[in-house]
Amino acid sequence: MRKNNRLKEIEKYVSQEFSKHNLHWFDEYHVKLMWKLALKLNEIKKGNEEVIKLAVLLHDAARMKDPEHHDTIGAKESKKFLKKYGYSESIIKQVSHCIETHRCINKKPKTLEAKIISSADAMAHLKFLPILFWVPFRIKKMDIEDGIRWIRKKIDRDWKQKILLPEAKEMIKKEYQIASKILDQLQKIKE
Ligand SMILES: [Fe+2]
Repeated sequence: MRKNNRLKEIEKYVSQEFSKHNLHWFDEYHVKLMWKLALKLNEIKKGNEEVIKLAVLLHDAARMKDPEHHDTIGAKESKKFLKKYGYSESIIKQVSHCIETHRCINKKPKTLEAKIISSADAMAHLKFLPILFWVPFRIKKMDIEDGIRWIRKKIDRDWKQKILLPEAKEMIKKEYQIASKILDQLQKIKE
């Protein structure tokens, strides 16, 4: 398979997988948005574009199987998956590091590409807040107050721990401020 074709194939495969689980919107409003943000960051930082594109496409692929461990499982599975498509050991290693560290929970991003991925993932949350309502209310079935508290914590964690590049912070500062204000208001509504 030609180089550009395999990336297109993977893009199609990922979209179909999300659609199968009725998560077409997740692909549209998260993966595709993150793709744009990651590439925009990479225009400034000049990392390996191929690694970044592959990591964006695959970073949440294991989410449907196991949301709590999708970073570790996704990293493992990406190795087999990319090998099947004939990617080099070096690309596979770099992509799987990006996936394993994109939540900045178990392991921290060490490479530039991994820092771009964790930053762009958090930026995509802040740019499209509805995605943050989906997890506590649809997946975790939390009540309203716990859910709002969960989202408040999540945006702060995104801002403080996942957006590792100063350029990314600058790009998304306004959205973070707006999101914080909305969440503050929602938390005060019963006072
Ligand atoms: Fe993500």
